[in-house]
Amino acid sequence: MQNEMQNERQALKKMRILGIETSCDETGLAIFDEAKGLLGHVLYSQVSTHAPFGGVVPELASRDHIVKILPLLTELLENTETSLESLTGIAHTKGPGLMGSLLVGSCFAKALGYALNIPTLGIHHMEGHLLAALLEKEAPLFPFLALLVSGGHTQLIEVFGVGEYKILGESLDDAAGEAFDKTAKLMGLGYPGGPRLAELAESGDAHRFQFPRPLTDRPGLDFSFSGLKTFTMNVFNASEKTEQDKADIAACFQEAVVDTLFIKCKRALKATGLKNLVIAGGVGANLCLRERLQSLEGKVFYPRLEFCTDNGAMIAYAGYQRFKAGKTDSLEIEILPRWPMDKIEKD
Ligand code: KG4
Ligand code: ZN
Repeated sequence: MQNEMQNERQALKKMRILGIETSCDETGLAIFDEAKGLLGHVLYSQVSTHAPFGGVVPELASRDHIVKILPLLTELLENTETSLESLTGIAHTKGPGLMGSLLVGSCFAKALGYALNIPTLGIHHMEGHLLAALLEKEAPLFPFLALLVSGGHTQLIEVFGVGEYKILGESLDDAAGEAFDKTAKLMGLGYPGGPRLAELAESGDAHRFQFPRPLTDRPGLDFSFSGLKTFTMNVFNASEKTEQDKADIAACFQEAVVDTLFIKCKRALKATGLKNLVIAGGVGANLCLRERLQSLEGKVFYPRLEFCTDNGAMIAYAGYQRFKAGKTDSLEIEILPRWPMDKIEKD
């Protein structure tokens, strides 16, 4: 009888979810409270660890996660004046991502969940990105169109509800962020490439060269950025590589990516009849893209800039939505370094 009452009290308790993101090179933790919203988040970026190597070194990434995860949790609990005992569940990124990095977050989540006797749940990293805009005061209502543009994904998705996703188009080769990173590397801009290239593009002339807009001259919503990267490399190699050349080429490349994304978003809004567009993932932090999308018919929603790139808040929030729908995982440690978006279960 007492146990039953305890269970009932537990069920009535407002949810408070710890979110843990460790899929790549950022350790992010956050707490989402059902009644109060996002209580706080902490983030450690491993940029300085990987910068000397010009890209993410997976083994170093997992080691950094191990070193940072516990101090970050302590910091988060202090900042938010929250006790571990007040948590009702833990959500962690289960995939896709780097195997070692995912394992750190997942093992940490399971061990903590076991110790606190609360459920844990593995979240799809891209679902986290996809739902991040719902953390904002002015959040879109379902259904909406989402453009997911990260380092590993470029997808146009029709979102009917949590877990109800229809992929309308995606990249056949490089993701948009990947194209930014690789192009930046080819131009000797280092890591992280996307933001560096975008910064350089600010002082460039986006009309100096005519760059292609891949796959825009035929119907469909798929993307291809690999050829654009090669085109950029050829223009770069043929140039004198002055600072102005570099800036102009960066600006032309950025303009080509942004224009391509714009054309496909416009096309997808028309095809679906949807009025709301959500931009998610790291490339969503690109200011040129944001400016361009303003001219779309329909309303565009973004997560705040810090939640465009990887963070714990989006995992805590996606976890909250999934726990609310009654989902939990067993204590078995399972990660999915490759996990296609269309394999996410509805509930
Ligand atoms: O979502 P995210 O943090 O991680 C993944 O899930 O991949 O996205 C990272 C990607 C990288 O490719 C990075 O270069 C790109 O987002 N990115 C940008 C900008 N900020 C981040 N690309 C263009 N302009 C930016 N301002
Ligand atoms: Zn991401």
